[in-house]
Amino acid sequence: MTALLEVSGLYKSFTISGSRALVQAVNGVSFAIQPGETLGLVGESGSGKTTVGRCILGLLDATDGSIRFRGQDITLGGRRSKSRGKMQLVFQEPAESLDPRQRIGRSIEEPLVALKFASNERQDRLLESIGLVGLSEDMLNLYPAELSAGQQQRVGIARAMITRPELVVLDEPTSALDPTARAEIIELLQRIQGELGTSYLFISHDLSTVRFVSHRVAVMYLGMIVEQGDAAKVFAQPVHPYSVGLLSAVLLPNPKLKYETAINLQGEIPSPINLPKGCFLASRCPLVLQRCRDEMPPPENLGGGHIVHCFRHQEVAALDPTTDTFTRFQEEAKRILGVFPVEPQLDSAAAQSEN
Ligand SMILES: Nc1ncnc2c1ncn2[C@@H]1O[C@H](COP(=O)(O)OP(=O)(O)O)[C@@H](O)[C@H]1O
Ligand code: SF4
Ligand SMILES: [Mg+2]
Repeated sequence: MTALLEVSGLYKSFTISGSRALVQAVNGVSFAIQPGETLGLVGESGSGKTTVGRCILGLLDATDGSIRFRGQDITLGGRRSKSRGKMQLVFQEPAESLDPRQRIGRSIEEPLVALKFASNERQDRLLESIGLVGLSEDMLNLYPAELSAGQQQRVGIARAMITRPELVVLDEPTSALDPTARAEIIELLQRIQGELGTSYLFISHDLSTVRFVSHRVAVMYLGMIVEQGDAAKVFAQPVHPYSVGLLSAVLLPNPKLKYETAINLQGEIPSPINLPKGCFLASRCPLVLQRCRDEMPPPENLGGGHIVHCFRHQEVAALDPTTDTFTRFQEEAKRILGVFPVEPQLDSAAAQSEN
């Protein structure tokens, strides 16, 4: 099966005005997203998640690498004509994408104006789109400030869905919401995916949400995906020291369920202006060897699309092979909130396919 989206060896660096220094924000990222699949992209702030999303959407030009949509090379902005409207973005802050002086209805149909749709067709799509996200027609004349944050995010989703996209990049779509609104938006996104088969790149630093919505997950550190694979597997048994460290840093609602791990990451994150020559985690990793400082660990495919960059992943896997405390944490969170939807199901062929 051809992947819906295929990102291969993506690099993006930024120049800093008044300086010759380069910020190396994305450093050789490769992944694929299948039709109807959600890939969760996790990592701390500054790891390059938003930059990856913006390169995919053509809002930034990649420095190197390729981006293919349905097999067609769209790396350069000029080649994007056929993918226009097929990929959309939902922001963290719904207010960011909504003009405060513009009525909701007008904001939602704006992407169709840009695509030069006739007004009667825009009206039909507008009604379809608000129906999909559960907004009522009388809300179309309101201004963004008259809506709750959850309703504003529904507007953001309606605006993205109005072009009937095949892929939606969701950049921290629930991070600004309270737990109830967050659960409602997650449920909405899963229902849309179930009904329409839309693929999602779900960018978040919130691991518990990512665990719920993602079929597969990719863990980013300093512009690299250090581990990717089936979400249930990576969360239950991460094999990269950084993934283990990230999971152990999750704030658990019940302190008795603290994720216990033999890996504690110490020290400062290196600057993306001055990256080390070997493994980017070498200065913080308790398992570091001299080899890690000298050489970048290559990607290793452990099967089923589970890919890791670490010379010592086998030892990490052997550290604590049975404790799946993170799943216990999820169950606890589900019990406390009592509102999360069921986990996504995907047929096994799609779930196992990989770039
Ligand atoms: N326009 C820009 N100019 C210079 N540096 C940038 C720019 N955008 C992002 N960066 C830098 O690139 C790195 C990755 O940023 P970003 O993609 O926003 O990370 P994330 O979304 O994971 O928080 C950070 O070091 C950030 O400061
Ligand atoms: S390659 Fe070495 S330094 Fe890098 S994560 Fe693995 S053990 Fe740690
Ligand atoms: Mg970001």
